[in-house]
Amino acid sequence: MTARQQPKNLWISRWGFILAATGSAVGLGNIWKFPYITGEYGGGAFVLVYLACILAVGVPVMMAEIAFGRRGRGSPIEAIANLAREAGASPLWKVFGWMAMLAGFMILSFYVVVAGWSFSYLWKMASGSLSGHGVAELGGIFEAGNANPWALGGWATLVTVVTMLIVGRGVQEGVEKSVRWMMPGMVIMLLIMIGYALTSGNFSAGFHFLFDFDVSRLSSEGVLAALGHAFFTLSLASGAILTYGSYLPSGTSIARTTFTVAIADTLVALMAGLAIFPIIFANGMDPSSGPGLIFMSLPVAFNQMPFGQLFGVLFFAMLSIAALTSAISMIEATVAWLSENRNMSRTKASWLAGSVLWLVAMFAMLSFNLGADWTLAGKHFFDWLDYLTSRWMMPIGGIAMALLAGFVFKSSMLRDELDLSEGGYRIWLFMIRYVSPICIVAIFIDALGVAALSLEDWPYFLGAIVLACGAGETLSPRLRGPRVVIRLPVR
Ligand code: PHE
Repeated sequence: MTARQQPKNLWISRWGFILAATGSAVGLGNIWKFPYITGEYGGGAFVLVYLACILAVGVPVMMAEIAFGRRGRGSPIEAIANLAREAGASPLWKVFGWMAMLAGFMILSFYVVVAGWSFSYLWKMASGSLSGHGVAELGGIFEAGNANPWALGGWATLVTVVTMLIVGRGVQEGVEKSVRWMMPGMVIMLLIMIGYALTSGNFSAGFHFLFDFDVSRLSSEGVLAALGHAFFTLSLASGAILTYGSYLPSGTSIARTTFTVAIADTLVALMAGLAIFPIIFANGMDPSSGPGLIFMSLPVAFNQMPFGQLFGVLFFAMLSIAALTSAISMIEATVAWLSENRNMSRTKASWLAGSVLWLVAMFAMLSFNLGADWTLAGKHFFDWLDYLTSRWMMPIGGIAMALLAGFVFKSSMLRDELDLSEGGYRIWLFMIRYVSPICIVAIFIDALGVAALSLEDWPYFLGAIVLACGAGETLSPRLRGPRVVIRLPVR
């Protein structure tokens, strides 16, 4: 397929893409992880840095990924190979397409386990089995659920099957149709939850916790966590956004849609914080209680409040829907690749991908019970999946996307695709060439434990950006490599 051909699958409307991409971005990352890491890293100052990271790294990289998808028209592997061919660059760049696809697959194999927690809490809330318990008992319930491989595996299996059923129906019939009702439904539930927090919770304490900027509470670790989370929450470098971008009709503004998705994702994270913290504070609980915040603390709070059970059901329904719309996007790259490049029907591709995924997920699930002793270098398989993807594959993939967009692909190609004003294009190019990669390298330096960056390092950080600008401008023609045109058979 040549780079400019129209693909088989396209979103029915611009809103189809916006809802699907927002559905991918908004997930457990926003409602489960964002509130608890904000709690752990001290509130407002962390939130501000997180917002800066979304703008400086997230938005430029997301624009690049959507542009790659739409111009390359295919799964990440196919799209990057097509663009490299168009730019006369080495076809080997497509390894980053492989890596992105694999990252999405690996994230999903532990994500279905966490989504399974959410589904099981929806069930437990609705059946009333969480009612009347205090913190210690709810902690016990959470642990007992994890200790039982049949229960934990059963819920993860349910999430996998529902995900594959939706994906198997196709881009328009499955993904687009489902997000059209799931996303508005989720937002309505979230608004109701905020209304509830406003009237029954300690809204002002929650608000101040989220928005009071206190630099003294900001740690270097917090800065890096904010940067890493910006990546995860926007579903970058995992094939999801790139593949969804490949179904975007030409003529739709990439910049406008990217901003819409990034703003919606950020609003949902902040709204989730505004729905959760007032309830936590009103019930005298600790905002920094970690990953168990919504599974152990929140149900206790619901137990103490009027109509708590009803709102508890609403909350976990919202979380389950958010997790599902993210899950479908993580496997889309693999299914697209199997069906486009391996000549499989969409249904067959989904069941094949889903079966392999299920096996890996079951193995990840065992980390909590039967395999509690199976560790490698102190980490369970579940933790390895998380560690490898978020600490290595996403940052490396992110740098690769930025370098491909900034230096390797011809600027005329992306300029065409992004269709920005001259000023807008220059700002984007500066961000993608220098600011985004350097911010990502900073996460990486921390991950490797080479150095812990502190706030006093900011002048060096800016210096590094200036130096990289000089080096990049000098080297950029060479990075693109020799102009060998490789002719691949056109199908
Ligand atoms: N963005 C999703 C969330 O916040 C997670 C995700 C990562 C989705 C990678 C797709 C790809 O939960």
